[in-house]
Amino acid sequence: MTFPGRFSSLPDYVFPRLRKLLDGRAPGAEPFDMTIGEPRHGMPDFVAEIMAEEVGGFARYPKNEGTEALREAIAGWLGRRYGAALDPDSQIISLNGSREGLFHAALALCPEEKAGQRPAILTPNPFYGAYTLGAPVLGADLHFVSATEETGYLPRFDALPEELLQRTALVYVGSPSNPHGAVASMDYWEALLGLAERHGFTVLADECYSEIYRDVPPPGAFEAMQRAGTDPERLVVFNSLSKRSNLPGLRAGFAAGGKDAIARMKLLRAWGGAPLPGPIQAVAARAWSDETHVEGNRLLYRQKYDLADEIFGEVPGYAPPEAGFFLWLPVDDGEDAAIRAWEGQGLRILPGAYFARGDADGVLPGTGRVRVAMVAPVDDLRGALHRLRDVLYD
Ligand SMILES: Cc1ncc(COP(=O)(O)O)c(C=O)c1O
Repeated sequence: MTFPGRFSSLPDYVFPRLRKLLDGRAPGAEPFDMTIGEPRHGMPDFVAEIMAEEVGGFARYPKNEGTEALREAIAGWLGRRYGAALDPDSQIISLNGSREGLFHAALALCPEEKAGQRPAILTPNPFYGAYTLGAPVLGADLHFVSATEETGYLPRFDALPEELLQRTALVYVGSPSNPHGAVASMDYWEALLGLAERHGFTVLADECYSEIYRDVPPPGAFEAMQRAGTDPERLVVFNSLSKRSNLPGLRAGFAAGGKDAIARMKLLRAWGGAPLPGPIQAVAARAWSDETHVEGNRLLYRQKYDLADEIFGEVPGYAPPEAGFFLWLPVDDGEDAAIRAWEGQGLRILPGAYFARGDADGVLPGTGRVRVAMVAPVDDLRGALHRLRDVLYD
C-alpha cells in the first residue's frame, strides 16, 4: 500500500510528539497536565436539560447548514458582540467545532490559480495546526509568516513582497492567538482587510478565544470590516463554544462571512461533511443566546491572569497574555524545559517549537518558549504554576 507523499512533511501532532519526548522519563512529582487547551470550568447548567428535551433529534438527519434557530442565535450574538448585521440564511454555517471549518474553508475557497500562478496560503508562525493542512491537499504554497516578540506576536502580512501578496488566496490569522495570547487591534484588522481588498485574497479569522480576556473585549474582524467598509467576501470568521462556554466536547462552532464564500462552504459540506446533530444544535442555540455563564467564566480566567502575572511577572521576557488561556513563557530551549518540568515537578507543558515550522531563513520560531495551558481550576493551578516557576527559573 502506497500512501500519498503530500503529507510526508507533516510532523506528529503536538501531543504524541510530547509523549515521545517524555516516555521513559519518570515524573518528579504527582503529574499535572498543562498541555491541552481543554477548559476545565463547569459547562452551562442548561446543557443536560436541553439534550434530554431534544433527544428525539438523533433519529433524524440534521440540517447541513444548521437549524434556523441556531443560525439566528449566532447572528444575534455577532450583532450584540460586534455590531455586525449578518443574514442568518446566507452568511452563517454551523460547524462541528471551528477546527474542521478552518481546514475545509481552504478546500472550499482556494482557487486553482491566483494571478496566473500557484496560489499561496499564508499562516502565522507559530500557528494553530488546522491552518496548515489545506495547502498540501490543494497543492497550494504554504507560506509561514513570523509572529514573534519582534513582530508584536502577530504576523506582519503587510511587510511581505508584492509578488507573494499577488498570488495569495487565503490568509489565516487568529486573534486572540494561540499560542501567544496576542490580540489584533482594530487598526491591525483594518489594515489586513485593506490588504485583502487590494490583493483579492480572503482573510480566515479564527476568533475562538474571543471571549476569554482580561477587561476589554478583543476587537473582532467584523467590527473592522464595517469601519473600513470592505467587501464582505474578503472575510470569513470562525468561532465556537469550546472555549467561550466550556463545551469542547459539544463540537459546536460556526463560520460567518460573505454570501458567496459561505455558499461554497455549504456546497462542499453538503457533499462530504458531517452536519451537527440536532440536539447539539439546540444546545448551541441556547448557549449563544446566554452571556451569564460566559461572564462567570471570564471572572475565573481573570484570577488566573492575576496569578500568572504575580508568579512570572519578574521573569525576564515574560509577556502577560492579553487574552486566551495560554502562557507563552520564555526559556532557553523548549524541549529541555519540558523535560525539566516533567522530571523535576511532574508538570506537562509543550515546547513552543511544536507549534512552528522553520521559515525560509531556517529560523524556527518558538524554540525558546513553552506553552502552558491555564485551564485547570484556579486552586489547582496556583500550586502548579509555583512549581513551574521553581523548576524553570530558580
Ligand atoms: C486557535 C484555535 N483555533 C481553533 C481551535 C479549534 O477549536 P474547536 O474545534 O473546538 O472550535 C482551537 C482549539 O484548541 C484553537 O486553539
